[in-house]
Amino acid sequence: GDTMTLLDINERFFPVLRTPGYDQETEIRGMESWEARCNDVLVCAYPKSGTHWVWEIVNMLINQKATRIPSMKESAMLEGSSRNIMQSMSSPRILNTHLLFCDIPRDFVEKKCKIIHILRNPKDVAVSFYNHHVRLLDYEYSGTWRSYLPRFLSGRVDYGSWFDNVLHWHEATKSLPNGSIHVMTYENLHTSTEEEIKRLAEFLGVGCNNTLSREICEMCSFSVMKQDKDPLEDASEWKHGEPGMYRKGQVGDWRNWFTVAQNEMFTAVYEQKMADSDITLEYGH
Ligand code: A3P
Repeated sequence: GDTMTLLDINERFFPVLRTPGYDQETEIRGMESWEARCNDVLVCAYPKSGTHWVWEIVNMLINQKATRIPSMKESAMLEGSSRNIMQSMSSPRILNTHLLFCDIPRDFVEKKCKIIHILRNPKDVAVSFYNHHVRLLDYEYSGTWRSYLPRFLSGRVDYGSWFDNVLHWHEATKSLPNGSIHVMTYENLHTSTEEEIKRLAEFLGVGCNNTLSREICEMCSFSVMKQDKDPLEDASEWKHGEPGMYRKGQVGDWRNWFTVAQNEMFTAVYEQKMADSDITLEYGH
């Protein structure tokens, strides 16, 4: 059945950032005063938008080598970390987060750290997030796709509403000088991988010749990443002991999941929620 544990997670996790003094074993409540370093890079996205992919690419670009990073994206996640862990990381730190711009420690903004924001077609995000919730045992979620979709649309999922998140980031990006936040989409990265890698390199201020962009493109392809990264996962955290972080890696998988009615409902909600925004995003009709 559609247990309420997603809500539990939402309530357990989000008040942590918004309620001072919230008692939690991590040090996340003090996060707003965490110190940044000028050469920190922060990859930001709503969950399931391609964070692992871009984080891996950024690591290789900064290292100037298409060599597999032995560590996991999760080890460099702001909200999964503590002040001590953050301080013990060597520079340059390539970090990531699913938090809103307003919840990122202000020092990252003041020190003008490189911030990358990834967007993905929300219909694909919904499908990917549904599978994430079902497969990752911690969520204790066994709802159907049919019951999940309204949850996603109303934001009763981990990290809250995709719409609110994306609108918030869009406004934040516009409020800063042009080019401060590098905005990219999962879809463009898919169709023009090497060009997008080079654009990233330019934003990061590192070199990237054709050989490097081609090698990074190959090392960060879905199949190679799945093969290299799945064994690093703790299989016992996943349904049937099968790591599911690298699920399908395609554009438009939503078409295999949405009924015509579900698609119409989604599009209607999208158009209503995004009506007042000048954001342009491909979300499939
Ligand atoms: P799917 O569930 O559609 O397969 P995040 O890293 O933000 O959690 O996003 C996860 C999504 O990105 C998953 O989508 C995952 O398969 C996809 N992904 C991860 N690595 C990828 C890669 N190298 N190429 C394409 N997609 C990738």
